[in-house]
Amino acid sequence: MSLSEAKKKQGGLAGIIAGESAICTCGLGNGLNYYGYAIEDLAKNAEFEEVAYLLQFGELPTLSQLKEYKQKIIAQRALSEELKAILRAIPKNAHPMNLMQTAVSALGALEGEKEDFSNQDEKIIRLLGILPSILVFWHHYANFGKEISFNSKQESIGGYFLEKLLGKEPKEDFIKAMHCSLILYAEHEFNASTFTARVCASTKSDIFSAISAAIGALRGPLHGGANEAAMYLIQSFNSVEEALKGVNEKLSNKELLMGFGHRVYGAGGDPRNALIKEWSKHLGGDTLLFKVSEAIETLMKEKKPNLPPNADFYSASAYHFMGIKTEYFTPIFIMSRVSGWSAHIKEQRANNKIIRPSSEYIGVEPREFVEIDKR
Ligand code: COA
Repeated sequence: MSLSEAKKKQGGLAGIIAGESAICTCGLGNGLNYYGYAIEDLAKNAEFEEVAYLLQFGELPTLSQLKEYKQKIIAQRALSEELKAILRAIPKNAHPMNLMQTAVSALGALEGEKEDFSNQDEKIIRLLGILPSILVFWHHYANFGKEISFNSKQESIGGYFLEKLLGKEPKEDFIKAMHCSLILYAEHEFNASTFTARVCASTKSDIFSAISAAIGALRGPLHGGANEAAMYLIQSFNSVEEALKGVNEKLSNKELLMGFGHRVYGAGGDPRNALIKEWSKHLGGDTLLFKVSEAIETLMKEKKPNLPPNADFYSASAYHFMGIKTEYFTPIFIMSRVSGWSAHIKEQRANNKIIRPSSEYIGVEPREFVEIDKR
C-alpha cells in the first residue's frame, strides 16, 4: 500500500508500525511465514500441533517432542466441575463466541496464572487442550441436556473436536482439512485480536485476561466473525444466477461482501485462500454451495479486483462440508489462533513496555465551567 493510501486510512492505524515482532511476516516477500516457514509448506506438510509448538517455542518439534507435546495437550482436555457449572448456566441461544470468552475468563478465576507468569507455557497448553472441550460440552448440554465425556482416541485437536461435536469418528479427510484450516488461522501478525492481546498483556495482566480480550476482538464480522458471515452470504442464494444477481445488487448498494478484502494483502490476495479453497473443493466441489462460492469469487474478481477472497471465504464452505454448524466457525478460529495470541503475549512480556499511544485532540477549546442551575 502506498503511503498516501495508508494515510487516508490512518483512522484504522493502517500502515502504522506499532511494534517489533519476530513471529510472523504477513504480506512481505513470499506472503505469510511463521518463524520463517512459508504457510504453504506448513499447511501442506505439518499437523496443527507442530505449528502450535513452533509458535510456542520458536522451532519446529522433533518427532519425540511432538509426541510429548500432543500428550500434554490431550491431558488438558477435561473440564473441572466448577467450569461445567458455569457452562451449564449459559443458554443455548447465547452466541458461542460469548460462551468461549466467558469460559476463558472463568479459567482465569478458577485456574489462574502465577503472578510472575512462570507457568505461562503450562497455561497455553491448558488452553489448547480445553478450548475444543468447552465448546462441545456446552453444545451437547445446551441443546440436548447431555453431558459428554472427554475421552477420545483422537490425538489431534481437530480430530478430537470433530469426533466430540459430531458424535462419530471423523473421516481422515476431515481431520486433514482441519489441520490445514487450524494452521492457516494460527497466526497473522498485528491483526485486531492479536494487537488486543498484546495491549492487554502489556499492562502485565494475566494470560486468561489477554486471551479473553482477544476473543472479544475476534468475534466481530470485520475480523474472525467473517467466516460465519460469509457462510450466511453464500447460503442465502439458491442458484448461481441468484448469487450473481444478489452480489451485483450488494455491490451497487455499497454493501460489504463478507470474506473479501484484506487490510494488509490488498489486491495481491490472501495466500491462505488457495490452500483452504483446495480443501473446500475436495470436500464439496460438486455441491451447489461450492458452485455458488466460485461464481461469487469470479464475479468479485471481475468487478472488484482489489478485493480478492480472504481465508474466511472458503473456510466457511470447508467447515460446512464437514457438518459443522455455522455459529461454531469463529470458535474454531479461537482454538487455532490461541497459539498465535499466546506467542505474542510471550513476546510482549519478554520485552515489555505498556502500549499506550496518544490521540490527536479534535474537541472544543478549553471553556469555563457553568454551575448546574445556570446552564
Ligand atoms: N466488500 C465490498 N466492499 C469492500 C469490501 C468488501 N468485502 N472490503 C472493502 N470494501 C471497500 C470499502 O467499502 C472501501 O470502499 P470506499 O473506498 O468506496 O469507501 C474500499 O473497499 C476500501 O476498503 P476499506 O474499508 O478502507 O478497507 P480496510 O482495510 O479498512 O478493511 C476489511 C479491511 C477486511 C475490514 C474489509 O475489506 C472488510 O470489511 N471485508 C469484509 C469482512 C472480512 O472478510 N473480514 C475478514 C478479514 S480477514
